[in-house]
Amino acid sequence: MKKLFCIGDFTVDLIIPFGDMKRAVKGYGDGKKRNVPKIYTQAGGGIANTSVVLARLGQQPRIVSKIGTDSCGLDAIKDIRAEGVNTDNLILDKASAFIIGSVIDEDGERYFNGWQRSDAGNGALLKGETEDIDVSETVWVHSGGINIHDDTEHEREIVAFLRRCKEAGATVSFDINLRYETSGYSEGRRRIYEQIFDLADIILGSGLDEFGPVTGIDDLAEAGRVLAGNSKTVVVRNSSKPVLLINRGQESIHPTCRVQQLHTIGAGDSFDGGFIAAAMYGKDMKTCVEWGNRCAAATISHMAPMTVPTLSELENI
Ligand SMILES: Nc1ncnc2c1ncn2[C@@H]1O[C@H](COP(=O)(O)OP(=O)(O)OP(=O)(O)O)[C@@H](O)[C@H]1O
Ligand SMILES: [Mg+2]
Repeated sequence: MKKLFCIGDFTVDLIIPFGDMKRAVKGYGDGKKRNVPKIYTQAGGGIANTSVVLARLGQQPRIVSKIGTDSCGLDAIKDIRAEGVNTDNLILDKASAFIIGSVIDEDGERYFNGWQRSDAGNGALLKGETEDIDVSETVWVHSGGINIHDDTEHEREIVAFLRRCKEAGATVSFDINLRYETSGYSEGRRRIYEQIFDLADIILGSGLDEFGPVTGIDDLAEAGRVLAGNSKTVVVRNSSKPVLLINRGQESIHPTCRVQQLHTIGAGDSFDGGFIAAAMYGKDMKTCVEWGNRCAAATISHMAPMTVPTLSELENI
């Protein structure tokens, strides 16, 4: 059984449809009964999102993460399992799940922040916690920078897992997902990123705000080239602008799809899922970028989370 692992962030999103609630409340007093939109939770986190996309595209991703097991955490696990994500290697924390509050305003804009509950776990892995996961026959392992914060036991455990998978013969992919404005790029964080860049076969990222800090170069394409060196594949995204693929020295440009963007939530995660799925089906790197673009476009043009085309739609265009 060929294995595909995704290791990284899996959290709970608490969705507060503030704009819709406000609209509903504005109509009070007109004698009609109305439904005020509900507040609800759903599975979130970049690596969980990418896993869901992979499962929807017919893959059997195995997620490696730690999540709290209050009712919100358990619901999130149930949700991704129902999508087809293998959750056997999840590490279950007795603490409550870490919740990201997401307020959606009248224009569909979302505002996020973590809810610092005193009983919530932080999802940090401990040394040796992934050691018993059987990585034999692993063909692909994917991770991302969202929960790489510093050089601690947690990040070192992720590096150790990626290394074990690589030694087992896996392709290693990594989404920079730097979030520089909120997370910065401390010395410790840089140390871990550099270890992961060394291990990675494929690096995906978006814009100069990601490629700039990690390379110290202020030209996007040039930063991608430096990261690629002679042996790596680098996928340089830039929102709606064309994607630059640098594949072991060969470069190609791939326009994004024309869609009506309703939001940008999960665009990068969806791209990663489409890209990796294509690679798992044996497609060449250019086709992987095309699948990434199409998946991301479907996600940002639909309100339902992580909407992607069907496999046959992707195959037939
Ligand atoms: N306006 C748009 N129209 C079409 N496609 C888009 C648009 N914006 C983003 N995309 C698609 O989404 C992909 C990822 O977007 P972006 O470069 O913003 O990633 P990201 O910053 O990593 O996203 P995230 O915020 O999820 O981390 C793009 O490469 C492109 O395929
Ligand atoms: Mg991203």
